[in-house]
Amino acid sequence: MIENEMDFESRLAAPEYTPEDTEIENSLRPKTLGEYIGQEKAKENLSVYIQAARKRGEALDHVLLYGPPGLGKTTLAGIVANEMGVNIRITSGPAIEKQGDLVAILSNLESGDVLFIDEIHRLNRTVEEILYPAMEDGKIDIIIGKGPSARSYQLSLPKFTLIGATTRAGQISAPLRDRFGVILRLEMYNREELSEIVKRSSRILAIPLDSKGALQIAGRSRGTPRIANRLLKRSRDFAEVKYDGVITEEAAMEALSSMEIDDLGLDAIDRRLLKTMIKNYNGGPVGLETIAAAIGEESVTIEDVYEPYLMQIGFLARTPRGRVVTPAGYAHLGIKFNPQNADDSQQKFDL
Ligand code: ADE
Repeated sequence: MIENEMDFESRLAAPEYTPEDTEIENSLRPKTLGEYIGQEKAKENLSVYIQAARKRGEALDHVLLYGPPGLGKTTLAGIVANEMGVNIRITSGPAIEKQGDLVAILSNLESGDVLFIDEIHRLNRTVEEILYPAMEDGKIDIIIGKGPSARSYQLSLPKFTLIGATTRAGQISAPLRDRFGVILRLEMYNREELSEIVKRSSRILAIPLDSKGALQIAGRSRGTPRIANRLLKRSRDFAEVKYDGVITEEAAMEALSSMEIDDLGLDAIDRRLLKTMIKNYNGGPVGLETIAAAIGEESVTIEDVYEPYLMQIGFLARTPRGRVVTPAGYAHLGIKFNPQNADDSQQKFDL
């Protein structure tokens, strides 16, 4: 039962998509940069590049978006296409299995179109090689046939914009990375921005929500709009059943604590991760694989999903010798930072 509850909560606070999210996200997605809240730096730069490309009547340069999941990379790609007045074709690294799959996608693009490849770091090498000349010269080389009768053909493509998204910029090969003219890092959202996002969503979904309710949800959404929108929907259920339908501060607080999401947005799995590090490994340093095995999660999930937020709020640090829980992390869990490890801890934070 506990395990099931964990799974349930991990999904609630996880920044990855669920089918339900896809449905609401589509209705909530802003269509223009003006409607898009937060990511001021990325927005400002994109706005200049879009205006310049439009003025010259050219396709926008290729764009790489990177940052933790759930921050709006797909949304931004849609906005770019909309603002450029072109079509968008959405796919993902793992979905493109063979060179032929990518050739088919590329050869169906129209002039100026946006091709969005999510999780671009997961493209396989042979597929990636097709992308290089396509991005650089708008050409693809295809080989038809095998052995001595094989023939090579070159296909010219219309000008297009590749928008690649990744949670792991470090895993993108250098030749691919170098072919992006624009590289933008998306940051986690602050509480005010998330509160604005939740308010906007509540207007679109006709969910009664007051300002304090919005701030409660925002403060527990781990800097991630996708989580904020999900918590908004769950809070509505509580408000409708237990209150008079309006998500007030009280209703939001009850909803979120029933979901075991604490005042900083940590869920049961975050707490288990930190507690396991403290109880079993004296707060670290401990290797990622060891933590993964101890709490039964995939190491990539820990790296992409749990760690970014725990590091952002200063509860976890990465050191050359492994991960460590910070004194602030101990304090949040109400566990005393062990002074016996003072020497060690000095080293721990000597990054
Ligand atoms: N919904 C999800 N992300 C958003 C954002 N950045 N701005 C407005 N609405 C959003």
